[in-house]
Amino acid sequence: MTADRGRFVTFEGGEGAGKSTQLRLLAARLEAQGESVLATREPGGSEGAEQIRELLVHGPADRWDRVTEALLHSAARRDHLLRSVEPALALGRWVLSDRFADSTAAYQGYGHGVPPEKLQALYDIAVGRLKPDLTLILDLPVAQGLRRAAERRDGGARYESLDVAFHERVRRGFHVIAEAEPERCVLIDATASPEAVAQSVWQCVAERLAPQLLETEG
Ligand code: TMP
Repeated sequence: MTADRGRFVTFEGGEGAGKSTQLRLLAARLEAQGESVLATREPGGSEGAEQIRELLVHGPADRWDRVTEALLHSAARRDHLLRSVEPALALGRWVLSDRFADSTAAYQGYGHGVPPEKLQALYDIAVGRLKPDLTLILDLPVAQGLRRAAERRDGGARYESLDVAFHERVRRGFHVIAEAEPERCVLIDATASPEAVAQSVWQCVAERLAPQLLETEG
C-alpha cells in the first residue's frame, strides 16, 4: 500500500527570526493531532549535509567565494533531499525544514550578488522539480534579529558576522520572494510574541494544507 505523499513546509527568514522555535511548536501541534513529523534543517538534515554545514557556518566571512558557497549549500541540499526529505514525504510524513532554497536566493543571491540564473541552474541540478508546499517567511527588523541571534549563539556565527547592509539585502530579498510567489509563501510578522507567531503559523498551515485539522481541534 502506498501512503499519500506528505507535506513539505519550509521556514525562512533572517538571523534570529525565531524559525527554530516556531518549527518546534508547529511539530508539537501536528504530533498532538496524531500526525507524523520530520523536523529538519538546512544546511544539514542528513549525515553528509551536516558535515558540509560545518564548512559553511564556521570560519571567516570570506572563507568561500560566493559561487563556491552556493555550490556547497546546493550539495548539502541534494544530500538532505535524497536521504531525509524525499523518503519522509514518500511515507506520508510532514517535513518541516528550518531553511531551504529560498535561503540560497536571499543570502547568496540578494546578499552576495550571485545572479539569479546561476542559482536557478543550481536549483535545477540539486532539487529538480520539487517545491515546498508552503513557505513561512518570518520577518523581523535586522537589528532586532541580530541581537536575538547573538544572545543565543550556539557556535557557528559566520553569517552573523557579515555587516548590517548584507542582512538588509537578505531581508529585502525575502520580501521580493514572498511577493513573487504568494501561492507558496506567506510573510509573517515575527516581532509579535512567540505564542502569537505560533498561532499565525498554525492558521496558515491548517488553512492551506490541512483544513481537517482545524475541525478536529474543536
Ligand atoms: P541557521 O543559522 O538558520 O542554522 O543557518 C545557518 C546559516 O546559513 C544562516 O546564517 C543562513 C545561511 N544559509 C545560506 O546562506 N544559504 C542557504 O542556502 C542556507 C540554507 C543557509
